[in-house]
Amino acid sequence: MSRITITKPDDWHIHLRDGAMLERTVNDVAAWANRAVVMPNLTPPVKTLEDALAYRDRIMSALKTDSGNSEFEALMTLYLTDATSPEIIEAAAASPFVCGVKLYPAGATTNSAAGVTGLEALKPTLAAMEACDLPLLVHGEVTDHDIDIFDREAVFIERTLAPLVDEFPKLRVVLEHITTKDSVDFVTSARNGVAATITPQHLLFDRNDMLVGGIRPHLFCLPILKRRLHKEALRAAAVSGNPKFFLGTDSAPHTVETKEAPCGCAGCYTAHAAMPFYAEVFEEEAALDKLEDFASHFGPDFYGKPRNTEYITLVKEEQLSPMSLSFGESTVTPLRAGETLAWRVETAG
Ligand code: NCD
Ligand code: ZN
Repeated sequence: MSRITITKPDDWHIHLRDGAMLERTVNDVAAWANRAVVMPNLTPPVKTLEDALAYRDRIMSALKTDSGNSEFEALMTLYLTDATSPEIIEAAAASPFVCGVKLYPAGATTNSAAGVTGLEALKPTLAAMEACDLPLLVHGEVTDHDIDIFDREAVFIERTLAPLVDEFPKLRVVLEHITTKDSVDFVTSARNGVAATITPQHLLFDRNDMLVGGIRPHLFCLPILKRRLHKEALRAAAVSGNPKFFLGTDSAPHTVETKEAPCGCAGCYTAHAAMPFYAEVFEEEAALDKLEDFASHFGPDFYGKPRNTEYITLVKEEQLSPMSLSFGESTVTPLRAGETLAWRVETAG
C-alpha cells in the first residue's frame, strides 16, 4: 500500500511551550491533527481555568489559519498541585476548553517541581474530578531516589495507580506516554475508563538505540526508553485495535544546547513528522489498517468528543527528515534528524 487516507488524527498529549516557541509547535501539530491536548507544564504552570484560557488565547493567536489549519482546537489541561481545590476543578469542568487535569509527581520530569507530593490530601479534589467527569492524565513514574529509573513506571502502577483507579471507580484516567509491558498489561486488564497514550519514540526505539555505541541525547525523554521487550509490547498494543490505546506524541521541544549538555533535558520533538513515524511502525507491524483507529478514533471516543470529519492522506514516499528546526532564535534537533523517513503527509484538510 503506498497511499492511505484516514480521518484526520488528534494528538492527545503534546507540549506546545509558550512565547516564541508557539509559532512552530502549534502549526506543526495543526498540519496533521485537528485537536491537541496541551500539557500545562509551563513555568509557572497552568493551574487554574483562568491560566488555561489565557494560554489557549496565546496558542490560538499563533495558529496560521491560511493553510487548512483553521479548525485546529487546543484542548487545555490544568496542572494538579497540592493546592488544587475542588472549586478549581468545578470551574474547569464547566469550561468547554478544558479536557483534563495532569498529575505530575513532584520532580518526575521537565517543569514538575510544582507537582504533587502526595495524593492523600488531594482526595476531595480527585472526588470532584470523578463527580464532574474531568479526566486525570497521569505522568506515571515514582520519584523515590532509591527506585531505579527503569523501574519507576512499574512501581508507580503498583503503588499509586492501581489503588487510585479502585478508589475512584468512575474517574477516567489516561496513563500518558506508556513505556512498559507492565503498563500495557495494567491498562488492558483495568476497568473501563482507564486508557493510555503511546508516543512515536517509544514505538520506534529501545534503550539500546539510545545508549549503544555512544549516548544519543535526542532520544532521551521521560519516561526513559526501556528494553526491547517493552517496545514490542507497546507496538502490539498500538496495533491491537484495543480502544484503550491511542495516539499521544508527547512532542516536547528543548533547544539543542539544553539537550546536548552535561545534564541534558528530557523530551523528543516529533510534531513536525508524527504521522510518518506512526505510519512506519504500523506498516512494519503489517497493520496499516489499524492506524486510523489508533490515530483518529479511539482518542475522541475515550474523551467523549466527536470524531473528526476531515481526512488526511499519507503517501509512501521517502523524505529526508530535517537536521534541525528553527524556533525563533533557537534551534531544536527533532527525532530522527537527518534520516530518511518512509512516509509523508500529502494532504490535510
Ligand atoms: C516533557 C517536557 O519536556 O515537557 N519531557 C519528556 O521527556 N516527555 C515532560 C513530560 O511529558 O514528561
Ligand atoms: Zn509529556
